[in-house]
Amino acid sequence: MKFIHLSDTHLLARDDLSRPPHAGETLRAVIAEINEYHADAEICVITGDITHHGRPEQYDHAVELFATLAMPFIIIPGNHDIREPMLAAFPETPSDENGFINHGQTIGGIRFVMLDTIVPDAHHGTLCDARFDWLKRELANHRDLPTFLFMHHPPLDMGLPFLDSIRMDADVELAAILKDNPQIKHIFLGHLHRPSNGIWQGIPFNVGGSSQKGEPFDMRHEKEEELVERAPLKPMFGIVLTDPSGNVRYHYETVQFD
Ligand SMILES: [Fe+2]
Repeated sequence: MKFIHLSDTHLLARDDLSRPPHAGETLRAVIAEINEYHADAEICVITGDITHHGRPEQYDHAVELFATLAMPFIIIPGNHDIREPMLAAFPETPSDENGFINHGQTIGGIRFVMLDTIVPDAHHGTLCDARFDWLKRELANHRDLPTFLFMHHPPLDMGLPFLDSIRMDADVELAAILKDNPQIKHIFLGHLHRPSNGIWQGIPFNVGGSSQKGEPFDMRHEKEEELVERAPLKPMFGIVLTDPSGNVRYHYETVQFD
């Protein structure tokens, strides 16, 4: 089974040229590549920062572009998103009883669990008691299925001081849940705008690249305005091959965009 991992599309309104490269144009190029070579994918999972400011006209742009994907898609928010306009634009996206954009579904024998880690008006992420309660129930209801977790914010320091300062802060609580739920096979993340991977608490993870532009690879500076760009990344997406056992092969693909 193949699925596509898109992240950090950072869309502005269609005619807004204020943050180059134009995120709509880079996403068009990414989707063209996905549709030409990966139209056989079961689903496209989009791990947040769909828009740059969470404005309705930016979500309108997202609706228009995501509709051109050759396969269905599912979404969670990132720190640049705002729940209410996001759900208004994508009314088919489920949310839980507390309004968090948490949802799960079974695809190809795998449970895809999508977690809302955002904190309104902040860039770091968290999971609060209500969200952990939802996650525990979701996992208990599908304990027999290999499970992938998707969330925008990484739950660990990656050695990138700026991004580490805005990671998901409830790592101890999440680690305990991973320990109790060995059916969790893999974690898919966003937020870093970089093709990164590793193992956390014994669980492998991949961070999706941004379909717009990469974050500087800067292991020295903590302030965003001080980051030094050494080798700009191209617009990027992930191709994931899996099977009913939850094995994962993750390919990062870039598209040419000048
Ligand atoms: Fe982002």
